[in-house]
Amino acid sequence: MKTAVDHLVEKLNGLAPEIALVLGSGLGGLVEEVSDPVRVLYGDLPGFPKSGVSGHAGEIVGGLFSGVPVLMLAGRSHYYEHGNAAAMRPALEALAGVGIRKLMLTNAAGSLRPEMGPGSVMLITDHINFSGSNPLFGEPTDRRFVGLTGAYDADMRGALEKAAADTDTPLNQGVYMWFSGPSFETPAEIRMARTFGADAVGMSTVPEVILGRFLGLRVAACSVITNLAAGMTGAELSHQETKDMAPQGGARLATILRKAIGDL
Ligand code: HPA
Repeated sequence: MKTAVDHLVEKLNGLAPEIALVLGSGLGGLVEEVSDPVRVLYGDLPGFPKSGVSGHAGEIVGGLFSGVPVLMLAGRSHYYEHGNAAAMRPALEALAGVGIRKLMLTNAAGSLRPEMGPGSVMLITDHINFSGSNPLFGEPTDRRFVGLTGAYDADMRGALEKAAADTDTPLNQGVYMWFSGPSFETPAEIRMARTFGADAVGMSTVPEVILGRFLGLRVAACSVITNLAAGMTGAELSHQETKDMAPQGGARLATILRKAIGDL
């Protein structure tokens, strides 16, 4: 049987990207900016997750983004969909298998800092895994003991910071705390998160960072802030708000990525 790697290599037809971008809420439209696109549905790739959060079939789009060969992953599997933190492992292994060396992850998140409001972008400098889970549960080899001290690649962060400065796009930095979801946090959990040193909270990305490092990929990640976290405004949180607000920060992050991609 053909593997996901076989399928991708065949489809890419000589295109050899070194970087893959995982598009979170607010960034899905970036696939339209890929020139000479090759599109592959996750459903055609053995091991790839079957569905995404909005029920969309996920797809990989390969081609040139700002002139640079890339793979974009539109649609990711979240831990809260099934309780399997390793759901993205086969997909990330396939990326590594076709020669991807760097992973640029994006997501939507709630902010713990009042001045970093909806529409802001935050470069993730580090994370706190508060889910109690890990995508490497059950991995039998000693490779499971992955060091995460330098998980968020210094050079990639530098390229993102430079692109933000060059395009006059505000870019915050901070620590992302992974909650399992799918329920939002309580105000008490947000107070705890702040005490623990978090700047933003969300329900994704950390498993992919751990898997990426496990696979030897260099990793960077950015959050688009869709809301102030639970208890900070008195309003109830909703997924609709996440979807409505994600395009604002998404547009800013897209500006940064277009400029940064050549240096990432
Ligand atoms: N909490 C968790 N995940 C999120 C949030 C939030 O406030 N906003 C967007 N994703």
